[in-house]
Amino acid sequence: MSHHDNHKDDHEFGDLHHTLSKSTTRSTLVALLILTIVTVIASRIDLGSSWNFMLAMAIASVKALVVTMYFMGLKFDHIENRAIFYSSVLFILTFIILTATDIFTRHSDWQVGTRDVFLAQKSGSGPNIKRPWEASPEILAHGKKLYDINCAVCHGAEGKGDGPGSGLPIKPRNFHDAVAWKNIRRGSDLNTMLLKGIAPYMPAYAQLGSTDRWGLSHYVLSFGPAPVVEDGKSLAAVGIVDTTKDDGGAGGAPKQRQIPIDFAVKRYIQSAK
Ligand code: HEC
Repeated sequence: MSHHDNHKDDHEFGDLHHTLSKSTTRSTLVALLILTIVTVIASRIDLGSSWNFMLAMAIASVKALVVTMYFMGLKFDHIENRAIFYSSVLFILTFIILTATDIFTRHSDWQVGTRDVFLAQKSGSGPNIKRPWEASPEILAHGKKLYDINCAVCHGAEGKGDGPGSGLPIKPRNFHDAVAWKNIRRGSDLNTMLLKGIAPYMPAYAQLGSTDRWGLSHYVLSFGPAPVVEDGKSLAAVGIVDTTKDDGGAGGAPKQRQIPIDFAVKRYIQSAK
């Protein structure tokens, strides 16, 4: 579009009604199409999830701007209206950038778990294994799979506490030994421990579901001497109130939506030191 067109239009219709010249409409349309193609191409390239998101948001913002400026006529509007609009966009952008930096730079330990803690959950994290508090071959196999991915790096593939990442000031537990354990060597207790970790070196796994944590607990205990036997009280503490039911009868178990408070406090004190 030439400046001449624009000027003429303004002159003819004043500020109230701006009619878009055909050439401007065409170039705007072409610009939007090109941006759409760019979006599609960009979505196929893996820049790391957060950068893909940023890029998509940036392109979408440019497109929205083109629409408001030309199709909605903001470009030809009063200077005050334009100032108000642009500053509000800037305002929102600031919020988005601040929020995004927060979300994308958080350490995973700090992520708020949104999965259900206890057996209220049936899916979302691995197989739906019935009666997960019992050390069935099925749950042990599931536990081994998760252990090899998440835990072997510190605790070692054989559970001897000698993985490549075991050079910590506090040694990762050797599961073949029953000594020096901080928690009772029992599935329900480890299940709860995995939610919080043991600060500062044993990480929390609150992002895993209950079945996952049962699997890990059984598997870890299977390396060493026979674990402490569960009773009604220990099982009830993790939401299993009726052992005759496959899901432990915990239909209405409370949902975990936060990191445990004592863990948060420990981390807070630690970071203040
Ligand atoms: C970054 C290394 C690291 C990773 C990864 C890790 N641990 Fe640990 N773990 C430790 C350390 C260190 C300790 C000892 C903590 C202490 O005594 O303060 C420990 C202790 C434990 C204990 C003993 C708890 C007790 O009461 O004494 C269990 C059980 C355990 N880890 C299970 C796991 C499981 C299951 C995973 C994987 C889901 C895992 N750990 C991943 C470092 C790690």
